Amino acid sequence: MCGIIGYVGHRPAAEILINGLRRLEYRGYDSAGIALIDNGRLNILKNAGKVNLLAERMRASWNAELLNRATLGIAHTRWATHGPPTEVNAHPHTDQTGRLALVHNGIIENYASLRRQLEGRGHKFLSQTDTEVLAHLIGEFYKGDLVDAVCAALKHVEGTYGIACVSADLPGAMVVARKGSPLLIGVGENETIVASDVSAIISHTRQVIYLDDNDVALVTAAGAEIRDINNISVSRAVASVDWEESAAEKGGFAHFMLKEIFEQPDALQNTMRGRLDEEMGSAFLAGLQFTPREMAGIRRVVILACGTSMHAGMVGRYFFEELADLPTEVEQAAEFRYRNPLIGGHDLVIAISQSGETADTLAAVREAIQKGALVVSLCNVVGSTIARETGRGVYLHAGPEIGVASTKAFTSQLLVLLMMALKFGRSRRLSREEGLEICREVRSVPGLVRETLKQNDAIAALAARYAKARDFFYIGRGLLYPVALEGALKLKEISYIHAEGYHAAELKHGPIALLDENVPVLALACDVPGKDKTFSNIQECRARQAPVLSVVTDGDPSLPEMLTDIIRVPPSSPRLTPITVVVALQLFAYHVARIRGCPIDQPKNLAKSVTVE
Ligand code: M6R
Repeated sequence: MCGIIGYVGHRPAAEILINGLRRLEYRGYDSAGIALIDNGRLNILKNAGKVNLLAERMRASWNAELLNRATLGIAHTRWATHGPPTEVNAHPHTDQTGRLALVHNGIIENYASLRRQLEGRGHKFLSQTDTEVLAHLIGEFYKGDLVDAVCAALKHVEGTYGIACVSADLPGAMVVARKGSPLLIGVGENETIVASDVSAIISHTRQVIYLDDNDVALVTAAGAEIRDINNISVSRAVASVDWEESAAEKGGFAHFMLKEIFEQPDALQNTMRGRLDEEMGSAFLAGLQFTPREMAGIRRVVILACGTSMHAGMVGRYFFEELADLPTEVEQAAEFRYRNPLIGGHDLVIAISQSGETADTLAAVREAIQKGALVVSLCNVVGSTIARETGRGVYLHAGPEIGVASTKAFTSQLLVLLMMALKFGRSRRLSREEGLEICREVRSVPGLVRETLKQNDAIAALAARYAKARDFFYIGRGLLYPVALEGALKLKEISYIHAEGYHAAELKHGPIALLDENVPVLALACDVPGKDKTFSNIQECRARQAPVLSVVTDGDPSLPEMLTDIIRVPPSSPRLTPITVVVALQLFAYHVARIRGCPIDQPKNLAKSVTVE
């Protein structure tokens, strides 16, 4: 996710801003930029790539006088959402006059229509970003009072934002605002620092004001005057932060993986933001434009992916078959081009990749394109190779995933696959009412995940009981079979316990020979079709003395008494159960690995992005 830092005070701003950006690097980013106000002039530098590069360019391009004199500035690390990670798309962005600069976190959902209106009034845009549109809008309203201009502009904006804005005409002050994207103000001795994240400011001050949604603040060295969006004063308490700097980098969590697990309600909200058509009971997926002929010609879906992304595809298969009546196959991407894949113009190929750089998936994509299939991608990293080469697709908007174990990308992938199946389903067989029901389901997902996360302590206690195991089996059926595979993958990659995922029915075709009192089974026995058969499979495991840990639906009246160790997930439609269950399994794997003292964010032998075949 993007990061914001702003400074106004008595010390040179440049060094403080660059150091602040370094403190924000852990969030993941692909470009960076800085703006300083000095002597009635706005100075901007930005580049694709690292903060260190920005720092070098700053020292080479700006003279020492400017660097030592300017005491007001803003800076940003960007994680691309609209337009690739290039210098021109990096923040800060300026308005039409080039005298006002803005950094922004979040997504302006109606930026396309705002941009058209502004272009109609003669505005020229340099970048593909939503942020530049907001800068121009504020600039248009600016008549000498920046707070007025920001309030006026934000009334036209739909979406989320944390912003910091400076003007060459306003020495000694900046204006910040937030809605749905965090922003806080650090109050120091004759200096004030704003940031999207406490880690960027705690080396300067621990006195912090957390802005609420719809707050707008005029920030000077003396502190902050906070207003609401109608420019009426509001008061906000000053809090004291007691985090250590190292903890602050991970938002207070011990590991990135845990932070990313807990980010899932927000990540999922961002994934669905602006994409539900609540009028027609469908989904707006702007990157998936097909001609009516292409759409009508699709006979089959082929999903290509590796690892966790492949497991997401296996769940997606159920969505496409059930909602869109489309036969769907899931292919291990590494295998695809080494056989003779019978694929062509009637096949919709969906390549799924968090990083968008996985070599096996990329090679399969090239093969599918070459064979004339319609190829789209589902990536998290904007501008990644797979996203670029497929041209069409949907971004997850889950925010950067830093922990090697994929967590929030998986749940966002499931949500996008559900929305894609909804879109195709509406054009093939689903009624508007059925579509509206699925929209309602999609909207409920962040809340369901929040509920599941409340089980964290209970799951940690169960993890302590199982942390010494050497082997583990995970079993599930139907939609929960791929989740069993994913749960086992999570456990083995971060805890180094040998874990295998099996279809619950498959256990008795061989693996059951391995069960005894030292080999636990984690059974996914939630309230989805096939549950009773899974209960029978649990009996079979118990009869071999295997300890069984079951994931069940909270309140399910049919739970057999023999279940002792239980993880509960909230009731939901079967379609959403993979999401709640996987969150519980992510927590279980995390706590087992923590108890075993494993290096959770960087497990041995693994890389976040696998760019070799
Ligand atoms: O970036 P991708 O989604 O293409 O990555 C695919 C796999 O390498 C990845 O999911 C891997 O399995 C993760 N470490 C699982 O947590």
